[in-house]
Parts: sequence; structure tokens; C-alpha cells
Amino acid sequence: MHERTRVIHQPAVELPDDNRPLVAPIYQTVKFELDRVDEALRALRGERPGFYYSRLSNPTTRQLELLLAGLQGREDAIVCGSGIAAISSCLLSLCHTGDHILGFVETYGPTRHLVVRLLAKFGVEHTLLSIDDDEGIEHVLATRPTRLVFFESPTNPVTRIADVERICRAARAAGALSVMDNTFAGFHNHGQYDVDLFLHSLTKYASGHGDVMGGAIIGSRELVSAMRHDASTLGPVLDPHAAFLILRGMKTYFLRYGPQAASALEVARWLEDQPAVARVHYPGLASHPRHALAARQMREFGTIVSFDLDADMEAATRFVEALELFAVTASLGSVESLALPPQMLQPRDLAPEQVTASGITRSTVRLSIGAEDPADLIIDLGQALAKLG
Ligand SMILES: Cc1ncc(COP(=O)(O)O)c(C=O)c1O
Repeated sequence: MHERTRVIHQPAVELPDDNRPLVAPIYQTVKFELDRVDEALRALRGERPGFYYSRLSNPTTRQLELLLAGLQGREDAIVCGSGIAAISSCLLSLCHTGDHILGFVETYGPTRHLVVRLLAKFGVEHTLLSIDDDEGIEHVLATRPTRLVFFESPTNPVTRIADVERICRAARAAGALSVMDNTFAGFHNHGQYDVDLFLHSLTKYASGHGDVMGGAIIGSRELVSAMRHDASTLGPVLDPHAAFLILRGMKTYFLRYGPQAASALEVARWLEDQPAVARVHYPGLASHPRHALAARQMREFGTIVSFDLDADMEAATRFVEALELFAVTASLGSVESLALPPQMLQPRDLAPEQVTASGITRSTVRLSIGAEDPADLIIDLGQALAKLG
């Protein structure tokens, strides 16, 4: 071989069958070859195991799919390049012109945009209710043919709690699919309910370190394989290196989620005692309107604590800017604590009465509690509150 050919056709290092790496290697390759064309065609048709092209599947992303499906108590998963890629691929694959979606004013803004603006362009209709409106949900599902109900719990940012069993029962009775964005609660929660499809942003608790984005669609083998072909042509693909980083993040998932949720409860209890705080939103507090439901549904209450300051928007912003241990930025679920001021939480696409229904006020602050010592976080919150005067 000449040297120009040699650098392209590099030596292969095969491991013996009884010799395995403790950390799975990253299959950082777009293409996989098979020796025979008819075998490659069979692999493409799913008639034999094997990989062909990483937009369709890749061993590293597949490892992550199997891990997440198992944790969420379902059979299969598709991982995507971001949470919103998982949500958009799922909705585009499931909906037809003339379908109706039941959604909620408390749903993550870009998901609302997908339903209210993007899918509307293709003739998909919607109703937006509040997630607390159990009777309204049952009424819409019983009276209007509905393709799917799309919901979150706890909701972003004021941590409202969906009655998951009741929504799923009403959806099943109506022949509608239940699709739950379970990002806030995590993979270890809500699997016991009759949810058809779980969606997750892996950018949050799965990665855990704020350094990689991803998303997942998780459900039965039947639903997920019906969606896989559509997903492979929409192209929301997760890169194998990102999948590797998320797999690494998942090794400490339970070591992070539980302690961070315990810290969130401590912070929420402390905030409730502060005179400058008008109201704390955290499902772990007895004062939360659906605390008992949350305690039944979830193993712990998540790491997001929101509160309304007894102040105007400008003062709430000054408070957030005075925090030293909380980074003022988007996202959640990482080991660093984060804070968002009311300006960044206002739903700009909703009508004034829908904003009121969403529970977000002009002094709502959202905290994502990280892995720091909660005592330090409380000292930091205290010094920032003291500056409110
Ligand atoms: C509940 C929820 N779902 C989905 C997303 C979107 O995830 P990503 O940013 O990974 O696209 C977010 C992002 O904040 C979120 O909070």
C-alpha cells in the first residue's frame, strides 16, 4: 500500500471476545459497511441486526435508547439532537390535517409554538386549557375527537401538577394518545401510568452538566417503530459523541436527582418563611394545592422551585442579579444552580387571560437547584433578598 492509501485504510484493532472495555466505545462513524450488498439491504429493511447509516441508527445512540426506555419502563426509544427535536418529530409524525390536539397554557413555550403556530399551518387544530382543569380536560376529550393530549408535570415554571392517571384514563376512553413531556420529573417517575409516549429533554437531568443537548421519545415498541421511519427522514439525529456524554451523565443520574431534589425542598421551605416572598411554588410543600397528588405520583418533587416576590418586576430582576451562586440563564437540571427573572418567564404568545391562567406573575422567579450545599444557596438567597430593602 502507498502511504496515501495507508492513511485512509487504517489498521483495525479487534478486541478478543472475552476482553471488553468497561466504558463502551464511541462509534464516531457515519457509515457501517457489510460485506455483501444483499445483507446491507436486509439490514436496511430491519430483517437482520446491523447498522448502515448513523442518521438511521448507531450503536452508541442505540445504547442510550435502550437505557432510557428501560428506566422509563417502556420498550423502545428514539434519541434526538435536542428535547424540542424529539417533541417536533413526535408531533409531526403523529398528526394529520384535521386532527385536534389538547394542550395546556402551562406547557413549555416552544412546544406551544409548535402546536399553536407550526402545526396549525398544516391544518392541525388545538384547544389550550389549564392543567388544573380536570373537568374541562374530560369534557374536551369526551366531546371532541382528539388525536392526542400533550402535557407536562410538574409544569414550567410554576410546578403545577397534572393528574396523570385521570388524564390518561380520559384519553384512553376517547381513543386519544397521551403524550407526556416528563423532563421535569425524570425517567424514574410516572412510568407506572398508562402514558403512551414520554418525551424528555436530555439536555437537563440526563446530561446533568449543562454541556450537551439531546432529546428522547420513549414508548411501546409498536408506537416507536411506527415513528422511527418518519424520524429518520425528518433528521433530528443525536451525534454519537453527544450520546456518549449523555450515557456518562446517566451514570450519576440518581446521585444527582435525589440530593438536588432534597436541596430544593430545603430551599423551598426556607423561602416560605421569608417576609419578602409572597408565594412559593414547589410540589413538595404542604402548601402546594396538589401536594398530596404529587406525593402519590412522584418519588420526590424535582429540583425546580419558583416563587413570587412581594415586589415589582424591576425589584425581582435586581434580586436575581444580586445572586452570586446562581447563574442567570435558561435551562435546568444541571449541577450548577440557575435562576430566571420574571422578564424571561413571561409567555409572550398568550392572551392576558391565558397568562393569568398560567400562574406566572410579574414577580415570579424560577430557581433550578444544583448540587451545591443547600446551606450556601440559602445564604446567597438571603443576601440577595436583603438587597430588596
Ligand atoms: C419541559 C421542557 N421540555 C422541553 C424542553 C426543550 O429541550 P431542549 O432545550 O433540549 O430542546 C425544555 C427546555 O427547557 C423544557 O423545559
